[in-house]
Amino acid sequence: MSVYKRSFGLTAAGESAHIYRLENRNGSYIEVTDLGASLVTVAMPDRDGKLTDVVLGYDQAEGYERGDAYFGAVIGRNCNRIERARIQINGRTYQLTANDGENNLHSGPDGYERRLWGEQEVDQQRNSVTFALSSPDGDQGFPGDLRIMVRYRLSDDDEVSIHYMGSSDADTVVNLTNHSYFNLDGQDQGSICDHWVAINARAFTPVRDSGAIPTGEILSVGDTPMDLVKGRRVGMEIDADYDQLKCMGGYDHNFVCEGYRKGRTRVVARARGPRSGITMEVATDLPGLQFYTGNFLDGQVGKGGHIYHRRDGFCMETQYFPNSVNDEGFETPVLSAGKTYRTMTSYRFGVER
Ligand code: GLA
Repeated sequence: MSVYKRSFGLTAAGESAHIYRLENRNGSYIEVTDLGASLVTVAMPDRDGKLTDVVLGYDQAEGYERGDAYFGAVIGRNCNRIERARIQINGRTYQLTANDGENNLHSGPDGYERRLWGEQEVDQQRNSVTFALSSPDGDQGFPGDLRIMVRYRLSDDDEVSIHYMGSSDADTVVNLTNHSYFNLDGQDQGSICDHWVAINARAFTPVRDSGAIPTGEILSVGDTPMDLVKGRRVGMEIDADYDQLKCMGGYDHNFVCEGYRKGRTRVVARARGPRSGITMEVATDLPGLQFYTGNFLDGQVGKGGHIYHRRDGFCMETQYFPNSVNDEGFETPVLSAGKTYRTMTSYRFGVER
């Protein structure tokens, strides 16, 4: 196991970004950057043993700084949407920036995904890198001085784990996720519609309209195209005449993952690339998973100059439910002052012959 660090170019402000490469005993490796604490590369063997990069991204820091698709980034202080860009904590109202119609998406234009995080620790033994970020009181409109750490680790059995830790001096929202886009056939292999995907969720949170704010219901997936419990080809019903899919242009919904209990990690989803045979298993201790099929990708110029089109990657963003800060029926994303935010999500890769 080993961790190597190199330059990843300069940010617009002239600061140096870095890439850390974490390699394991099998020769599989991942690359992460301090810019946005983003996951840049996940190179795993396919069924012929050929290393295949299964995440979409850019070649240079500049792409991550300018991009609009959140490739691989850690999203915070709150991922997904907040209705009318407004929250209330302890009876006080805080106004965030509306950047998705009248709503707030991924915390607004000044997201953590464009910030240069600090290097907290490189652990050669554990094959991990930890990034740290200070988000002052009032940042993005949120109350509380928040300090966050995100640790990426690659194990010898090809598991990429992401641990999130944080604490604040005032009650605030903390709902971090990783926004990697996966294509298990390889990041430059086009549509993911032939991928097989299973999500262990018997219910999802339907959205009101294309603004994607949940209605508050927990709706059964039974007999709908949202039923991914047993697994199916992503494209099988993605364009079905079904309101929830039509209004979002495909899957872009939060699934209510089975077996949620605070602090308990369980497998919530699985996927397989049809041509590479590469498999992925997602585990988390969080209640929800936003399954997003890259419906808004539209010509981003990525790694090696490859151009990403609609549905060329899918995201599995583990999270507290969208708009949960404003919805009393949902598990709250509010972190109390002095308490520690601690969650983890992992992606374990394998191959099926
Ligand atoms: C999230 C949202 C999508 C889209 C992407 C970014 O996953 O749910 O609707 O906004 O981020 O393009």
